[in-house]
Amino acid sequence: MIPDSFIQELLARVDIVDVIERYVPLKKGGANYQACCPFHSEKTPSFSVSPTKQFYHCFGCGAHGSALGFLMQYSGLGFVEAVEDLAHSLGMQVPQVSDRVHSERARKAPLTELMARAARFYKDQLKLSPKAIDYLKGRGLTGEIAARFSLGYAPDDWQGLQKVFPDYNDMALVECGLVIENDQGRRYDRFRDRIMFPILDQRGNVIGFGGRVIGQGEPKYLNSPETPLFEKGRELYGLTHARQAIRDDDTVIVVEGYMDVVALAQHGVGNAVATLGTATTPNHLHKLLRQASRVVFCFDGDAAGRKAAWRALEASLEQLADDKSAGFLFLPPEHDPDSFVRAEGADAFRRLVRQPTTLTEFLLRELKSDVDLATAEGRARLVHEAKPYLQKLAAPILRVQLTKAVAEAAAISQAEVETQCGLKPLGKGYGSRPAPAPRKRTIEISLARSLLQAVLRRPERAARLPLELIGGGSAEEAALLAIADEIEHGRLSVDHLGQLVEYFRGAPFEASIAEAVGKIAVDGADEGEEESVFQDTIQRLRQAVLKAEIAELNARAKSGSLDAAGQASLAELLARKGKGNA
Ligand code: UTP
Ligand code: MN
Repeated sequence: MIPDSFIQELLARVDIVDVIERYVPLKKGGANYQACCPFHSEKTPSFSVSPTKQFYHCFGCGAHGSALGFLMQYSGLGFVEAVEDLAHSLGMQVPQVSDRVHSERARKAPLTELMARAARFYKDQLKLSPKAIDYLKGRGLTGEIAARFSLGYAPDDWQGLQKVFPDYNDMALVECGLVIENDQGRRYDRFRDRIMFPILDQRGNVIGFGGRVIGQGEPKYLNSPETPLFEKGRELYGLTHARQAIRDDDTVIVVEGYMDVVALAQHGVGNAVATLGTATTPNHLHKLLRQASRVVFCFDGDAAGRKAAWRALEASLEQLADDKSAGFLFLPPEHDPDSFVRAEGADAFRRLVRQPTTLTEFLLRELKSDVDLATAEGRARLVHEAKPYLQKLAAPILRVQLTKAVAEAAAISQAEVETQCGLKPLGKGYGSRPAPAPRKRTIEISLARSLLQAVLRRPERAARLPLELIGGGSAEEAALLAIADEIEHGRLSVDHLGQLVEYFRGAPFEASIAEAVGKIAVDGADEGEEESVFQDTIQRLRQAVLKAEIAELNARAKSGSLDAAGQASLAELLARKGKGNA
């Protein structure tokens, strides 16, 4: 766990304008900076970055957040990675993780440099090799697409890399997998006479290569070994290039091969990535589902492709949420995505991607194919076989759907499947737990929203909130109480909105904060005016509470159950109300 205090300090030191400017060119306009939104496609800029709020907001698509949020949303980095990235750019050490990360970074930096240099060399060599150029042309690729993916050529030479690495004996060359040392201590290039596909990490660094033989030969693809930079189960080929298209479609297509990614891009299908000769891992899925709500697996139509799809299904189960989906696309057996898109065109391919086999369909189809549903034994086996998958599925609603489908196929009730598989029926999870009973009456939602917006504009206002009147019965009230409490106890110090939003990431009222932030980012209210709105809202709240208390006492008086003390307070309340109205 990274301490909150560190996150707060980090956000206090960083300037969101610098961070975003690294990725998106910003133009100053008034107090804020503008750009075309990197999160949706548009021609006129509606993406705005506020240096005073340390916050970005897009009026077009609603994307918003702090500097950290931007790194996560833009680069697809995880929270910890984003924190490390920001901290590193400021020369700060992330506590606890810092030793490990620092030594890792120190170890990786020179290797990253070597890989970049090698990639440049291979790219230059491609231009000099008519044979390699012809091969790529023969596969239907243009020079433009080859340049976009920085394709290269490793010359047919045992020590070709010596040209760019005069110190060919540098151990680092072996460590990053470019050079192999044999038992006699003789060194030679790993990649020779191959088309080179550089593999990039999410920050755009070259971390590995895939090298294809030109024409026939074994192995068809030679890949970089696992190195400190390159961990195959975590990386995806083409993700950096596909980022924008993934966002535009809210869909990512996972294919098997390098050439599939490049050929699809060549035909205008830019949102494809490839696993690197390994099965799809939950880690891959986690990464992808952070950037799109739909993942469509498109594997070859052969037996190996089916097996790969099944592994992908298994990896998906624990990563899916109810607002995310995984689909499976099975091409005709003679095709892979590369040959399909060339033979049938991009539109035909896109049509398939739009209507993939759903996870439920695929799972049931495969499970059913193993059992004889005409017999009671077969139906029992279906439930038995389905059990581990149902148990693994993390998305509660999808799980109910799947349970239903299994129950139907097995001709028993859904409740029975749930009991057999030890599934808790929906409704016991945290999300549906009733909200804690409010301590006092819930205040009118428009007042609560208005107060929350005012406090988010200037968090120091939290100290001026009439906390005794706020019961916590709504998410907005819960947010107000929490903000006031955290500030009062010194756990949260806020210089700007970005810090506050980060602080409450994951809180049950996070959505209410996000909504309020969305509002205030849009309206550009005048300082003095909105201060008087804040004061006015408090007045209205006091009056509303007063009125409710009076009404309650009045009702008791009518029914004759108001004692002397009650009558006294009623009189006092009425007097106060009179003053308030005056
Ligand atoms: P395929 O054998 O399906 O090749 O391997 P492909 O992608 O269609 O390649 P082309 O079209 O003939 O050029 C799919 C993926 O499996 C890995 C690579 O990542 C490849 O892209 N692979 C395959 C290897 O790592 N090594 C191999 O020898 C073969
Ligand atoms: Mn192929």
